[in-house]
Amino acid sequence: MSKSILIAEDETVLRQSLAELLTDEGYEVHQAGDGKEAYDLILKRPVDLVLSDIRMPQMDGIELLAKLQQAAPQTPVIIVTAYGTVESAVAAMRSGAHDYLLKPVNFEDVLLKVERAIEFGDLARTRQVITEQLASQSTFHNLVGEAQNMAKLFETVKKLATVKTSVLIVGESGTGKELFARAVHYNGITRDKPFVAVNCGAIPDSLIESELFGYRRGAFTGAIRDKKGYFEAAHHGTLFLDEISTLPLSVQSSLLRALEQRVVVPVGDTQPRPVDVRIVAASNQDLKKMVDAGEFREDLLYRLDVVKLELPPLRQRKEDIPALVHHFLQKYTKEMNKRVLGVTNDAMRAMLAHEWRGNIRELENVIERAVIFAEDRHIETEDMPFAIPGLVHDDSESLKEAMRQFERHHILYSLRRHEYDKAETARHLDIGVSSLYRKLDELDIPKNMQEQDPAEVPA
Ligand SMILES: Nc1ncnc2c1ncn2[C@@H]1O[C@H](COP(=O)(O)OP(=O)(O)OP(=O)(O)O)[C@@H](O)[C@H]1O
Ligand SMILES: [Mg+2]
Repeated sequence: MSKSILIAEDETVLRQSLAELLTDEGYEVHQAGDGKEAYDLILKRPVDLVLSDIRMPQMDGIELLAKLQQAAPQTPVIIVTAYGTVESAVAAMRSGAHDYLLKPVNFEDVLLKVERAIEFGDLARTRQVITEQLASQSTFHNLVGEAQNMAKLFETVKKLATVKTSVLIVGESGTGKELFARAVHYNGITRDKPFVAVNCGAIPDSLIESELFGYRRGAFTGAIRDKKGYFEAAHHGTLFLDEISTLPLSVQSSLLRALEQRVVVPVGDTQPRPVDVRIVAASNQDLKKMVDAGEFREDLLYRLDVVKLELPPLRQRKEDIPALVHHFLQKYTKEMNKRVLGVTNDAMRAMLAHEWRGNIRELENVIERAVIFAEDRHIETEDMPFAIPGLVHDDSESLKEAMRQFERHHILYSLRRHEYDKAETARHLDIGVSSLYRKLDELDIPKNMQEQDPAEVPA
């Protein structure tokens, strides 16, 4: 496809001869007699390059350049100017012009610069596309995930953007089920409508029905006026039913009816009311097994499980740990207004080796806590509540090295606990102060640690 060029030039003769030259070279050429006309043309139809004179009536070249930087920042602009006004060419370059041409123009010069500028524009666009792709891969609605299995989930969420299908999210505790539920809602056509989250496990069985579907005045003692349920509150939006496995069988039937007939019947009422909600349900239990055990209705499971998002436990996507650590470091240093220098390699290794039974929530807690204690220094292995050195293997399997690591860790822990008071630390370690000093030497623990980080005393 031929590249398109817009020439903005008020001198008709020059504009037309440039247009002829470039058309002969195979470019698709558009012409404008001033900046305003040029700008209007570009808004209607983007081009690959703009050749613009500086001095023009209505809108001059510099103003056009500034506007293009806003409206079409990837489109290169070559400024054309007379000999006497080289300064303005320089100024234009500073404000973002790609190149300049001096009048009277040399045609060979024009062709060379035009070709180069178009190539540059192509590159810039490619780079932008790649950067955007990378950005959307690694975070999506605040969801960090570069691992392959996460990319697939993000794809599914994107596909759900235009439909209101029921979604079932399964995964261990702390894997991000609620965050994904929000992503489904806020990424889709429901985004301007309510998102109502209900933790089914937190509502007493006797109240669930009335909480979900509402009640009429007088339906039971204490029902002094009509009340809408969560279903109606989520009308046109998303109802997030967390811990769906805890719903009593009787409520499961009412839920099924609501989903199939798109109506709710408030407790104490006979009149069904229409509702339009998309259901996102979440569970950390194996619902299939519950069906087999007669604890969950199979027909309800089919209704809910139209699209399933299976969130992998963190230990199956360890490649995401560094990105998540970075994400939570930023979040908590900002929130607590603290500075942390980073994470030592050892600490990162410890986190990569850990099992993370509590998944992302556990990782988030570890970082939140570490940020409190690691002000103005790096987060270290000792800041990991789970880290037992010796479980963090370097390349060495030597028992002696493992014991040395353990000793170092324990002494550091004790020092912090006693605010670097050596006498106090020695007393608790049940060794003499001079032995403690000898150990500090042997284990490469700085003796003046107190001055380095006075603030931290782990709980
Ligand atoms: N991919 C992710 N990127 C960034 N933060 C995440 C991600 N997944 C989860 N989190 C964070 O981890 C924490 C736990 O997530 P969430 O509450 O969604 O888990 P859950 O699966 O609903 O857990 P539970 O089953 O215990 O309710 C939240 O603070 C959430 O913001
Ligand atoms: Mg949850």
